Amino acid sequence: MTTAMLEPTTTSTVAVSCHGVTKEFGSGDSRTRALQGADLDVYTGEMTLLVGPSGCGKTTLISIVAALLDATAGEVRVLGKDLAQMSGWQKVQFRGEQIGFVFQQYNLLPSLTAAENAAVPLLIQGQPRPRAVARATDLLTELGMGDRVTALPSQLSGGQQQRVAIARALIHEPRLLVCDEPTAALDAQSGKNVMELLRRVAVQPERAVIVVTHDNRVFRFGDRIIYMSDGRVEKVEVPHQETSFQESGVHHAS
Ligand SMILES: Nc1ncnc2c1ncn2[C@@H]1O[C@H](COP(=O)(O)OP(=O)(O)OP(=O)(O)O)[C@@H](O)[C@H]1O
Ligand SMILES: [Mg+2]
Repeated sequence: MTTAMLEPTTTSTVAVSCHGVTKEFGSGDSRTRALQGADLDVYTGEMTLLVGPSGCGKTTLISIVAALLDATAGEVRVLGKDLAQMSGWQKVQFRGEQIGFVFQQYNLLPSLTAAENAAVPLLIQGQPRPRAVARATDLLTELGMGDRVTALPSQLSGGQQQRVAIARALIHEPRLLVCDEPTAALDAQSGKNVMELLRRVAVQPERAVIVVTHDNRVFRFGDRIIYMSDGRVEKVEVPHQETSFQESGVHHAS
């Protein structure tokens, strides 16, 4: 095991650590063990990619990390907090302040404009509507959508809708951004644009970014690649700490 290779840069801190996390759905004959002892470390200042075959537990694991779902057992620490010690209401507040989530299918509200959609987290926090929409307009402009802020989701392309969803996930400046297959519904070029955008605007020294992806064309955007299979983390690669990703072989972290 070459753990030295897996150390983050000196300015990084651990944003998420999971140990022995299990998750069971259902009971009796219909019981599914979606996670079977997953261990995961995610660092600030990095984009961590979470990859693995369909059904291996990626969405389940990031939903637990984002405090959307409770683990059955195991330890989950996110931004210094032990999620098992938090009440339901504390988790709602924690999500609203500290976490941004980008879904594969965007999940935009169809009757709101692009700027209104992006402003939703600020409106939930109680900010006055004009100020929230103005901030959303600025952010969308930064994301190359300045001329589309009054469009409805149905009037936007897939790549544009995903950029609105990214703006909505970033507008409250969360310390953890979680993206579940943000490029899966996009063609190759739009997918690449979204990944470049995420690297440019989302990766910040104080923030950790987790991106679930099936798409090996976007692996090169990751600072750390975490491979899952059958409800566990199987290996971790840190490609840019090696001279060559191909020649470096595999470094087992767990
Ligand atoms: N709410 C649920 N009830 C029952 N089983 C579930 C539920 N959610 C997920 N599962 C099961 O848990 C396992 C892991 O699912 P999960 O959605 O985490 O996989 P995934 O890696 O995200 O797959 P994909 O790449 O297809 O999105 C699967 O066997 C799935 O059927
Ligand atoms: Mg999934």
